[in-house]
Amino acid sequence: MKKLFDLFLSILIFVSCSDSGGEDPIDPPIEPPVENDRPKNLEEYNATSDGLRDYYFEDGYFDIGVAIAPQTLDKPDEIALIKRHMNSLTAENAMKWSSIEPTEGNFNWSDADKIVDFAVANDLKVRGHTLCWHQQVPDWIFEDNGVEASKELVLERLKSHIAAVVGRYKGKIYAWDVVNEAIDDGGGYRNSKWYSICGEDYIFEAFKAAREADPDAKLFYNDYNATEPQKRYSIEKLLEDLISRQLVDGIGLQGHWNLDGPYLSRIRDAFDSYAALGVELQITELDINTGSANEYTSTIESKQKSAYGRYFQEFRDYKDEITSVTFWGLTDDHSWLNQPGKPNFPLLFDKNYDPKGPYFDVIDF
Ligand code: G3I
Repeated sequence: MKKLFDLFLSILIFVSCSDSGGEDPIDPPIEPPVENDRPKNLEEYNATSDGLRDYYFEDGYFDIGVAIAPQTLDKPDEIALIKRHMNSLTAENAMKWSSIEPTEGNFNWSDADKIVDFAVANDLKVRGHTLCWHQQVPDWIFEDNGVEASKELVLERLKSHIAAVVGRYKGKIYAWDVVNEAIDDGGGYRNSKWYSICGEDYIFEAFKAAREADPDAKLFYNDYNATEPQKRYSIEKLLEDLISRQLVDGIGLQGHWNLDGPYLSRIRDAFDSYAALGVELQITELDINTGSANEYTSTIESKQKSAYGRYFQEFRDYKDEITSVTFWGLTDDHSWLNQPGKPNFPLLFDKNYDPKGPYFDVIDF
């Protein structure tokens, strides 16, 4: 009888722990909202000029940032939204290798300069994104007269690119995503051109070059799914190695999340274990994917309100470890998640620049 009971118990435990979506059984209940005088709806929002930066950055929590295209800065409504809500900017694409150095030695600074100049003029911080990634990277780096380039040549190109880019924005860009997404979801090194030609050395050389080019800039390793245990352990190992060489200051958890996950327990475990290494934590690319529905229905809105509400409650709980939270886009219609004919609604502002329901949950504390 005892055996039968044990078997039943283990099946019960297995079923309740499996990662099948839905509510996490070990997540604590969300705290009841506290009374505050912050806007609760659009009318109250329009009656004040306060924004996210007031509730978070000015109140001692963390920076609030947004990733933008340079064209955003031609639009008065978008500029107004940035100034009201943000104190930090990231270039969504303009600082990636293929944008800045599409052919060897020919640098195209105009888009990146536009964002940095705007930030400097408006007293906003800038996170640099990203110096070394497997996407948006031109083929010429890995080629040499029609054959694959040697490891020495690839590393030489990597170092001189980083010296040029970080050097140009020295003192203006306070933090860099130096290496992006070098670990795959299984926990191994991603089999990119960087890795197949250089092995893991490219990671260390990239960080070294960034450190040399601007010793005062904070250097980040940035990745998605950084809360998932298998990947997290490998990121931790990499961070430990970089820390022992004094080459890294922080971990960027991208935060391309969903209505149902990651579970708060996973997020918390990840925050705890990265923080235990002594590095800064930043949420670098936050958005909450609303899935395949073509409309922002009230059901989706209410799920997204609850998701944004609980993620930000978690960020606030870790305010001593988290130094910045950046949204990956300003308004829903500018998100990378939109596909032709398949809209997504992942951000806090709609296409009319108005705050959506989840905005009020983010500021309700
Ligand atoms: O600029 C060209 C334009 O000239 C051309 O007409 C058009 C046609 O497709 O493409 C334009 O380039 C696109 C670029 O975004 C700018 O809009 C690229 O095709 C498109 O691939 C590129 O997508 C970007 C993606 O990274 C690249 O993989 C997204 O905007 C950007 O949000 C996304 O950001 C990444 C982070 O850097 C790293 N973490 C994941 C995140 C989401 O994928």
